[in-house]
Amino acid sequence: KQGCDGGILLDDIPGSFQGEQTSPPNDNSARGFEVIAQAKQSVVDTCPNISVSCADILAIAARDSVAKLGGQTYSVALGRSDARTANFTGALLQLPGPSDNLTEQIRKFSDKNFTIREMVALAGAHTVGFARCVTVCNSNNVNPAAQLQCNCSATQTDSNLQQLDATPAVFDKVYYDALNSNQGIMFSDQVLTGNTTTAAIVTTYSNDVNVFLGDFAAAMIKMGNLPPSAGAQLEIRDVCSRVNPSSVASM
Ligand code: HEM
Repeated sequence: KQGCDGGILLDDIPGSFQGEQTSPPNDNSARGFEVIAQAKQSVVDTCPNISVSCADILAIAARDSVAKLGGQTYSVALGRSDARTANFTGALLQLPGPSDNLTEQIRKFSDKNFTIREMVALAGAHTVGFARCVTVCNSNNVNPAAQLQCNCSATQTDSNLQQLDATPAVFDKVYYDALNSNQGIMFSDQVLTGNTTTAAIVTTYSNDVNVFLGDFAAAMIKMGNLPPSAGAQLEIRDVCSRVNPSSVASM
Protein backbone atom coordinates (compact mmCIF):
# COMPACT_ATOMS: atom_id res chain seq x y z
CA LYS A 1 0.00 0.00 0.00
CA GLN A 2 2.77 2.40 0.89
CA GLY A 3 5.52 0.73 -1.01
CA CYS A 4 7.49 -2.34 -0.17
CA ASP A 5 8.22 -1.59 3.49
CA GLY A 6 7.23 -4.73 5.41
CA GLY A 7 4.32 -2.86 7.02
CA ILE A 8 2.06 -5.90 6.63
CA LEU A 9 4.34 -7.93 8.91
CA LEU A 10 3.59 -5.80 11.98
CA ASP A 11 1.28 -7.45 14.50
CA ASP A 12 -1.52 -5.52 16.16
CA ILE A 13 -0.83 -4.60 19.78
CA PRO A 14 -4.25 -4.22 21.42
CA GLY A 15 -4.69 -0.73 22.78
CA SER A 16 -1.50 0.71 21.37
CA PHE A 17 -0.85 -0.25 17.76
CA GLN A 18 -3.20 -1.00 14.90
CA GLY A 19 -1.42 -2.75 12.07
CA GLU A 20 -2.85 -3.76 8.71
CA GLN A 21 -3.01 -7.54 9.11
CA THR A 22 -6.58 -7.21 10.40
CA SER A 23 -7.69 -4.81 7.68
CA PRO A 24 -10.47 -6.69 5.84
CA PRO A 25 -8.49 -7.46 2.65
CA ASN A 26 -5.69 -9.02 4.71
CA ASP A 27 -7.55 -10.44 7.70
CA ASN A 28 -6.94 -14.22 7.81
CA SER A 29 -6.21 -13.93 4.12
CA ALA A 30 -2.56 -12.88 4.19
CA ARG A 31 -0.85 -15.86 5.78
CA GLY A 32 2.61 -17.33 6.40
CA PHE A 33 4.04 -14.61 8.63
CA GLU A 34 5.80 -17.34 10.66
CA VAL A 35 7.85 -18.26 7.58
CA ILE A 36 9.18 -14.71 7.31
CA ALA A 37 9.90 -14.70 11.06
CA GLN A 38 11.94 -17.90 10.67
CA ALA A 39 13.84 -16.53 7.68
CA LYS A 40 14.68 -13.37 9.64
CA GLN A 41 15.87 -15.46 12.59
CA SER A 42 18.11 -17.52 10.29
CA VAL A 43 19.66 -14.36 8.87
CA VAL A 44 20.25 -12.97 12.38
CA ASP A 45 21.77 -16.28 13.55
CA THR A 46 23.96 -16.71 10.48
CA CYS A 47 25.08 -13.11 9.96
CA PRO A 48 24.66 -11.31 13.30
CA ASN A 49 26.57 -8.26 12.10
CA ILE A 50 24.55 -7.66 8.97
CA SER A 51 21.11 -6.07 9.18
CA VAL A 52 18.70 -7.29 6.56
CA SER A 53 15.33 -5.60 6.51
CA CYS A 54 12.13 -7.57 6.80
CA ALA A 55 10.95 -5.88 3.60
CA ASP A 56 13.98 -7.32 1.76
CA ILE A 57 13.34 -10.76 3.25
CA LEU A 58 9.71 -10.62 2.13
CA ALA A 59 10.70 -9.59 -1.41
CA ILE A 60 13.24 -12.44 -1.60
CA ALA A 61 10.73 -14.93 -0.21
CA ALA A 62 8.22 -13.94 -2.90
CA ARG A 63 10.85 -14.36 -5.63
CA ASP A 64 12.06 -17.71 -4.29
CA SER A 65 8.49 -19.00 -3.97
CA VAL A 66 7.82 -18.14 -7.60
CA ALA A 67 11.05 -19.79 -8.76
CA LYS A 68 10.57 -22.90 -6.63
CA LEU A 69 7.08 -23.50 -8.00
CA GLY A 70 8.28 -23.31 -11.60
CA GLY A 71 8.19 -19.60 -12.39
CA GLN A 72 11.03 -17.49 -13.71
CA THR A 73 13.55 -16.17 -11.21
CA TYR A 74 14.49 -12.50 -11.18
CA SER A 75 16.92 -10.17 -9.45
CA VAL A 76 15.66 -8.47 -6.32
CA ALA A 77 17.51 -5.22 -5.67
CA LEU A 78 18.13 -5.04 -1.92
CA GLY A 79 18.32 -2.15 0.49
CA ARG A 80 14.68 -1.69 1.47
CA SER A 81 13.91 -0.35 4.93
CA ASP A 82 11.08 -1.35 7.22
CA ALA A 83 8.27 0.97 8.16
CA ARG A 84 7.56 1.96 11.74
CA THR A 85 3.89 2.17 10.86
CA ALA A 86 1.28 0.21 8.94
CA ASN A 87 -1.80 1.45 7.15
CA PHE A 88 -5.11 -0.23 8.04
CA THR A 89 -7.24 2.16 6.00
CA GLY A 90 -4.82 2.21 3.07
CA ALA A 91 -5.00 -1.59 2.90
CA LEU A 92 -8.78 -1.40 2.91
CA LEU A 93 -9.07 1.26 0.23
CA GLN A 94 -6.14 0.52 -2.05
CA LEU A 95 -5.93 -3.26 -2.26
CA PRO A 96 -8.11 -4.82 -4.96
CA GLY A 97 -10.91 -7.11 -3.80
CA PRO A 98 -12.44 -10.28 -5.21
CA SER A 99 -15.65 -8.51 -6.22
CA ASP A 100 -13.85 -5.65 -8.01
CA ASN A 101 -14.88 -5.16 -11.62
CA LEU A 102 -12.32 -4.44 -14.31
CA THR A 103 -12.62 -0.64 -14.12
CA GLU A 104 -11.96 -0.75 -10.41
CA GLN A 105 -8.96 -3.06 -10.78
CA ILE A 106 -7.44 -0.91 -13.54
CA ARG A 107 -7.89 2.19 -11.39
CA LYS A 108 -6.19 0.63 -8.37
CA PHE A 109 -3.24 -0.70 -10.36
CA SER A 110 -2.81 2.48 -12.38
CA ASP A 111 -2.78 4.44 -9.09
CA LYS A 112 0.45 2.54 -8.44
CA ASN A 113 1.69 3.23 -11.99
CA PHE A 114 1.06 -0.24 -13.37
CA THR A 115 -0.04 -0.69 -16.97
CA ILE A 116 -2.99 -2.88 -17.85
CA ARG A 117 -0.60 -5.53 -19.17
CA GLU A 118 1.36 -5.52 -15.91
CA MET A 119 -1.93 -5.83 -14.02
CA VAL A 120 -2.98 -8.89 -16.02
CA ALA A 121 0.48 -10.41 -15.51
CA LEU A 122 0.39 -9.82 -11.75
CA ALA A 123 -3.07 -11.35 -11.50
CA GLY A 124 -1.35 -14.49 -12.79
CA ALA A 125 -0.02 -14.94 -9.24
CA HIS A 126 -3.35 -16.71 -8.76
CA THR A 127 -1.79 -19.61 -10.65
CA VAL A 128 -0.65 -20.65 -7.18
CA GLY A 129 -2.36 -20.78 -3.85
CA PHE A 130 -5.73 -20.89 -2.25
CA ALA A 131 -8.55 -18.70 -1.03
CA ARG A 132 -10.78 -19.22 1.96
CA CYS A 133 -14.35 -20.27 1.28
CA VAL A 134 -15.61 -17.34 3.31
CA THR A 135 -14.04 -15.13 0.67
CA VAL A 136 -14.29 -17.07 -2.50
CA CYS A 137 -17.66 -18.80 -2.19
CA ASN A 138 -19.45 -15.56 -1.35
CA SER A 139 -21.76 -14.93 -4.27
CA ASN A 140 -20.34 -11.46 -4.95
CA ASN A 141 -16.82 -12.78 -5.23
CA VAL A 142 -17.13 -16.04 -7.07
CA ASN A 143 -17.39 -16.68 -10.79
CA PRO A 144 -20.72 -18.58 -10.85
CA ALA A 145 -19.62 -20.67 -13.84
CA ALA A 146 -16.46 -22.00 -12.18
CA GLN A 147 -16.61 -25.75 -11.81
CA LEU A 148 -13.55 -26.51 -9.72
CA GLN A 149 -14.67 -28.77 -6.93
CA CYS A 150 -15.79 -26.47 -4.16
CA ASN A 151 -14.26 -27.47 -0.88
CA CYS A 152 -16.66 -25.31 1.11
CA SER A 153 -19.38 -26.27 3.57
CA ALA A 154 -23.05 -25.62 2.85
CA THR A 155 -22.88 -22.30 4.67
CA GLN A 156 -19.71 -21.40 2.75
CA THR A 157 -18.54 -19.24 5.60
CA ASP A 158 -15.73 -21.51 6.70
CA SER A 159 -11.98 -21.16 6.42
CA ASN A 160 -11.58 -24.26 4.27
CA LEU A 161 -9.38 -23.50 1.32
CA GLN A 162 -10.37 -23.52 -2.31
CA GLN A 163 -7.55 -23.78 -4.83
CA LEU A 164 -7.28 -20.82 -7.18
CA ASP A 165 -6.61 -22.94 -10.25
CA ALA A 166 -6.33 -26.62 -11.13
CA THR A 167 -2.59 -26.73 -10.32
CA PRO A 168 -2.23 -24.61 -7.15
CA ALA A 169 1.38 -25.61 -6.45
CA VAL A 170 2.72 -24.95 -9.95
CA PHE A 171 3.59 -21.55 -11.37
CA ASP A 172 2.21 -22.18 -14.86
CA LYS A 173 -0.30 -20.69 -17.32
CA VAL A 174 -3.22 -22.88 -16.24
CA TYR A 175 -4.80 -19.84 -14.56
CA TYR A 176 -5.07 -18.10 -17.95
CA ASP A 177 -6.27 -21.28 -19.68
CA ALA A 178 -9.03 -21.43 -17.06
CA LEU A 179 -10.01 -17.80 -17.68
CA ASN A 180 -10.36 -18.56 -21.38
CA SER A 181 -12.70 -21.44 -20.47
CA ASN A 182 -14.72 -19.19 -18.15
CA GLN A 183 -13.40 -21.19 -15.19
CA GLY A 184 -11.68 -18.39 -13.25
CA ILE A 185 -12.42 -18.83 -9.56
CA MET A 186 -13.02 -15.28 -8.41
CA PHE A 187 -15.19 -12.67 -10.05
CA SER A 188 -12.13 -10.38 -10.18
CA ASP A 189 -10.22 -13.06 -12.10
CA GLN A 190 -12.88 -13.82 -14.67
CA VAL A 191 -13.58 -10.17 -15.56
CA LEU A 192 -10.13 -10.08 -17.19
CA THR A 193 -11.69 -11.74 -20.23
CA GLY A 194 -14.57 -9.27 -20.34
CA ASN A 195 -12.76 -6.56 -22.27
CA THR A 196 -10.92 -6.84 -25.58
CA THR A 197 -7.65 -5.36 -24.30
CA THR A 198 -7.32 -7.56 -21.23
CA ALA A 199 -8.77 -10.61 -23.00
CA ALA A 200 -6.05 -10.35 -25.65
CA ILE A 201 -3.36 -10.31 -22.96
CA VAL A 202 -4.94 -13.35 -21.26
CA THR A 203 -4.81 -15.17 -24.60
CA THR A 204 -1.19 -14.14 -25.18
CA TYR A 205 -0.23 -15.66 -21.84
CA SER A 206 -2.36 -18.74 -22.39
CA ASN A 207 -0.64 -19.28 -25.75
CA ASP A 208 2.92 -18.91 -24.45
CA VAL A 209 3.82 -19.52 -20.83
CA ASN A 210 7.25 -17.94 -21.29
CA VAL A 211 5.75 -14.60 -22.24
CA PHE A 212 3.72 -14.72 -19.03
CA LEU A 213 6.66 -15.77 -16.86
CA GLY A 214 8.85 -12.97 -18.25
CA ASP A 215 6.18 -10.32 -17.86
CA PHE A 216 5.37 -11.53 -14.35
CA ALA A 217 9.00 -11.37 -13.26
CA ALA A 218 9.37 -7.84 -14.64
CA ALA A 219 6.17 -6.67 -12.94
CA MET A 220 7.28 -8.19 -9.63
CA ILE A 221 10.56 -6.28 -9.84
CA LYS A 222 8.55 -3.11 -10.42
CA MET A 223 6.18 -3.84 -7.52
CA GLY A 224 9.09 -4.67 -5.24
CA ASN A 225 10.64 -1.31 -6.00
CA LEU A 226 7.60 0.78 -5.02
CA PRO A 227 9.06 3.25 -2.54
CA PRO A 228 7.73 3.89 0.96
CA SER A 229 5.62 7.04 1.26
CA ALA A 230 7.52 10.31 1.50
CA GLY A 231 8.46 11.16 5.05
CA ALA A 232 7.85 7.66 6.37
CA GLN A 233 9.84 6.73 9.46
CA LEU A 234 12.02 3.77 8.57
CA GLU A 235 14.35 1.35 10.31
CA ILE A 236 15.77 -2.15 10.00
CA ARG A 237 13.47 -4.11 12.29
CA ASP A 238 15.02 -6.57 14.75
CA VAL A 239 11.86 -8.67 14.78
CA CYS A 240 9.59 -8.52 11.73
CA SER A 241 6.31 -8.49 13.66
CA ARG A 242 7.03 -5.38 15.74
CA VAL A 243 8.86 -2.08 15.44
CA ASN A 244 12.14 -1.67 17.33
CA PRO A 245 11.67 -0.62 20.95
CA SER A 246 13.49 2.72 20.67
CA SER A 247 11.13 5.64 20.39
CA VAL A 248 13.42 7.29 17.86
CA ALA A 249 13.58 5.72 14.42
CA SER A 250 17.09 4.45 13.73
CA MET A 251 17.11 5.51 10.09
C1 HEM B 1 -7.21 -7.71 -8.87
C2 HEM B 1 -6.23 -8.11 -8.14
C3 HEM B 1 -6.31 -9.10 -7.03
C4 HEM B 1 -7.37 -9.49 -6.26
C5 HEM B 1 -8.80 -8.98 -6.31
C6 HEM B 1 -6.90 -10.50 -5.36
C7 HEM B 1 -7.66 -11.15 -4.42
C8 HEM B 1 -7.27 -12.28 -3.73
C9 HEM B 1 -8.09 -12.99 -2.78
C10 HEM B 1 -9.48 -12.58 -2.35
C11 HEM B 1 -7.39 -14.08 -2.37
C12 HEM B 1 -7.86 -15.13 -1.37
C13 HEM B 1 -7.64 -14.65 0.02
C14 HEM B 1 -8.39 -15.50 1.05
O1 HEM B 1 -7.87 -16.53 1.47
O2 HEM B 1 -9.45 -15.11 1.45
C15 HEM B 1 -6.13 -14.05 -3.04
C16 HEM B 1 -5.13 -14.99 -2.87
C17 HEM B 1 -3.88 -14.84 -3.41
N1 HEM B 1 -3.40 -13.77 -4.11
FE1 HEM B 1 -4.49 -12.28 -4.90
N2 HEM B 1 -5.58 -10.72 -5.59
C18 HEM B 1 -5.19 -9.87 -6.58
C19 HEM B 1 -3.91 -9.72 -7.09
C20 HEM B 1 -2.83 -10.43 -6.64
C21 HEM B 1 -1.46 -10.11 -6.95
C22 HEM B 1 -1.01 -8.90 -7.77
C23 HEM B 1 -0.69 -11.04 -6.35
C24 HEM B 1 0.81 -11.18 -6.32
C25 HEM B 1 1.60 -10.75 -7.28
C26 HEM B 1 -1.59 -11.97 -5.68
C27 HEM B 1 -1.20 -13.12 -5.03
C28 HEM B 1 -2.07 -13.99 -4.39
C29 HEM B 1 -1.69 -15.30 -3.88
C30 HEM B 1 -0.30 -15.95 -4.00
C31 HEM B 1 -2.81 -15.84 -3.26
C32 HEM B 1 -2.91 -17.20 -2.56
C33 HEM B 1 -2.53 -17.05 -1.11
C34 HEM B 1 -2.46 -18.39 -0.36
O3 HEM B 1 -2.54 -19.46 -0.95
O4 HEM B 1 -2.29 -18.36 0.88
N3 HEM B 1 -2.88 -11.55 -5.86
N4 HEM B 1 -6.07 -12.93 -3.84
